[in-house]
Amino acid sequence: MRLFLDTADFDEIRTAVTWGVISGVTTNPTLIARAGQDHETQVKRICELVADVSAETVMERKDDLIVEGRRIASWHPSVVVKVACTPDGLAAGKVLASEGIKINVTLIFTVNQALLAAAIGAYFVSPFVGRLDDIGEDGMRVVRDIVDAYRQQSITTKVLAASLRHPVHVTQAALAGADIGTMPFTVLGSMYKHPLTDAGLERFLADYRKTQEPHPVKR
Ligand code: E4P
Repeated sequence: MRLFLDTADFDEIRTAVTWGVISGVTTNPTLIARAGQDHETQVKRICELVADVSAETVMERKDDLIVEGRRIASWHPSVVVKVACTPDGLAAGKVLASEGIKINVTLIFTVNQALLAAAIGAYFVSPFVGRLDDIGEDGMRVVRDIVDAYRQQSITTKVLAASLRHPVHVTQAALAGADIGTMPFTVLGSMYKHPLTDAGLERFLADYRKTQEPHPVKR
């Protein structure tokens, strides 16, 4: 499973890129607003650091979405254009996909929505795990079911598990067979952590330091 960062914060992305573990970024209008930059500037900056950067459309009607999608795609070859799973979003996504633009169908909560995304030739489909959990449903079950349905139907759209809120979600997404998991910076950072790793490292370093002390000569 590829790991993506779900943020528009440039410093977070730069740090994660230096760790060498992420291969993409997802953004949405909320995350862009939080970053405090205009959409185009921020997306272009992020594209200089990493490939597969999802940038979301905000228009509501098909024709406006097509114009907006083309404009966003023109910002950088790494851009993946996000459209919402609505009749207009999908119709616009189909036109954009037919022009060779990579499409990420977002705000997915059911297998049927994922089938619609596949039908327009989407590159990514984004089921939102945490938001389903928030309303008392099993978000990860939807990821599992989409993966199964796609496998049975030989669909090549990649399943991008989104709205992952904690490290257990990441593990579960991988076990569910998701192609990609996108997560906030804090969740990515917590994937490194284990108390036995810290304790083991401390011990190894202490023992290494002992080998650097002068040894009495044995006779
Ligand atoms: C993904 O594309 C979305 O930006 C994101 O994962 C939403 O996560 P949230 O439900 O935690 O806001």
